[in-house]
Amino acid sequence: MRVSIVGSGYVGTTVAACFTDMGHDVVNVDIDQDIVDAINAGKAPIHEPGLDDLLATHGGDTLAATTDYEDVLETDVTFLALPTPSKEDGSIDTSIIEAAAETLGDTLREKDGDHVVVTKSTVIPRTTTETLAPILADASGKQLGADLHVAMNPEFLREGTAVEDFQNPDKIVFGSDSETAIDTLHEIFKPLIEASDATVVETGVEEAEMIKYANNAFLASKVSLINDIGNICKEFGVDAYEVADAIGLDDRISERFLRSGLGWGGSCFGKDTNAIIHAATETGYEPAMLEAAVAVNDRQPERLLSLLDDHGDVESERVAVLGLAFKPGTDDVRDSRAIPVINGLQERGANVAAYDPVAAENMRTHFPDIEYTDAPQDALADASACVVCTDWDEFAVLDDEFDAMETRVVVDGRRIIERRDGLTYEGLTW
Ligand code: UDX
Repeated sequence: MRVSIVGSGYVGTTVAACFTDMGHDVVNVDIDQDIVDAINAGKAPIHEPGLDDLLATHGGDTLAATTDYEDVLETDVTFLALPTPSKEDGSIDTSIIEAAAETLGDTLREKDGDHVVVTKSTVIPRTTTETLAPILADASGKQLGADLHVAMNPEFLREGTAVEDFQNPDKIVFGSDSETAIDTLHEIFKPLIEASDATVVETGVEEAEMIKYANNAFLASKVSLINDIGNICKEFGVDAYEVADAIGLDDRISERFLRSGLGWGGSCFGKDTNAIIHAATETGYEPAMLEAAVAVNDRQPERLLSLLDDHGDVESERVAVLGLAFKPGTDDVRDSRAIPVINGLQERGANVAAYDPVAAENMRTHFPDIEYTDAPQDALADASACVVCTDWDEFAVLDDEFDAMETRVVVDGRRIIERRDGLTYEGLTW
């Protein structure tokens, strides 16, 4: 099929590349000329394992990129994969996707025949039918249900495994009340449905929008719940990881997402959980559990710092921070737990020396004045303490590097440091 995708971030680019790999012709529309040039040159504009190969194979061929919406007219279906960031109050900002819908609608005015528009971005329930569909209909002059069809098809891609997640889905969700739209989505996803054992979920548009929020809010809440339990374990001197391993054997709980520690960061969990909390509250319902999940997550960095306080004053002392990315395998520091930890260390007057294998440059925009080192031992040298914020595998093998510390206090926020002898070691929940 001939598919267009508006927006070429880590979702839009990954989906475009995977669609071409399924045999479709895809045009990616983006405002950023550098992204467009990279894709047409067969280069991935973002780092995602496996994306380089897909771009090298299809970029500039069956995957074309452009800044010009007109190319949409050559396609049968358009996916909207635009950012839906948070406003100051945590509510969703749909201004970018609304503007894209307006421009898409204007362009579709020139097209004879049907067109399907699919929301790929994470949007609050009713956004597609009550906000985007009217914009598209007004701007294109097309009639909903006649020659204009809308649907919602959420993605469940994790940073660092986006290509793998797309190609190995547990579910593929099609939300629409238009048979034309549902049939179009089936045709696009047919190769993936046949190649994977994914369950196809056909549902309403609002249900599909809510499934995305429920998925993220549930996972974020699961992490906060194991952190709440982990904090209780710490007070009783109990190892939360021993407890998690045992309860994870209950298949109703499962072993995944039970790693207690500094909590969640990233571009989705905080954004989506706060957006659905805000939207729910607007209806008059108070989502107490989700509010508690956010509150527990917000508290974890301070708990780590108070463990550090128990071992002495860090004012004017060198403190090594190991790990800056919001999780291993990415250079992304958005909502990273290292940010409130470094803020807290600066409030305590510490001199921070930070190390991360790939995320230092991104963190420099938040903290231009701290020291960044090229190796963990350089951050640890002469340090009075060390805090660990990201569970990079390379931290698990650190051993004699700690000997260069002035005093060997190590507060581990991610249960990754193996060596304990000769260290004053504190685990956040163990
Ligand atoms: C998440 C969702 O998993 C994905 O489905 C959605 O599409 C986008 O948001 P992502 O944010 O990339 O993906 O990362 P994920 O691997 O889910 O981890 C999120 C955060 O939770 C990370 O900061 C991670 O360190 C933390 N986490 C995860 C824990 O603290 N404990 C765990 O057990 C698991």
